[in-house]
Amino acid sequence: MTRLRSTSLRSVTLSAGMVLFVLGTSSTAALADDHEADDARIKYRQSVMSTIGSNMGAIGDIMKNRLALPGAIANHAGQMADAAALIAPAFKKDLSEGRTDAKAEIWQDWAKFESAIAKYEEAARGLAIAASGADPSAVGPAMRALGKSCGGCHKPFRKAKEDSFKKK
Ligand code: HEC
Repeated sequence: MTRLRSTSLRSVTLSAGMVLFVLGTSSTAALADDHEADDARIKYRQSVMSTIGSNMGAIGDIMKNRLALPGAIANHAGQMADAAALIAPAFKKDLSEGRTDAKAEIWQDWAKFESAIAKYEEAARGLAIAASGADPSAVGPAMRALGKSCGGCHKPFRKAKEDSFKKK
């Protein structure tokens, strides 16, 4: 009888401890998940940017070396214009700490960030149109305008090279 009582008492103590343990681990796990998701978000938006940068690099290769690749510039520029729609969702969450070069200003002036996206999209469409048009001399200025649109966002919203997380 006494034995039974002490066992059930111990099991009560044990299960209370278990509940605390489970609660403890699950909240720590949730916290870790949040951090992991944030890191993944930062990586994702950098991938979106890298894709844009790769397309820009490919166009530069074609132009600099006068590669005969009919339709290629318009294709790359079209992909860049389409990628504009990925930028706002990729940056929606306010994450300016950690392995990122995004400045806090993005979330302090979201409207200005969106307007930089719109200008970039317009410039990319402009290059796609120029590259598929009959006047080859229109391509250079359209490419320069697209390059300017990157700076139009990077300057206010991306950390300078010397402050980049990549240097740390
Ligand atoms: C609307 C804003 C915006 C526009 C437009 C924009 N960028 Fe970016 N870009 C950013 C921000 C912000 C970062 C930093 C992201 C981070 O580190 O989290 C970035 C980062 C990058 C990176 C580095 C990615 C990495 O792996 O760390 C490249 C490359 C890049 N941009 C290329 C371009 C090019 C090329 C253009 C124009 C054709 C362009 N971007 C237009 C905002 C923009």
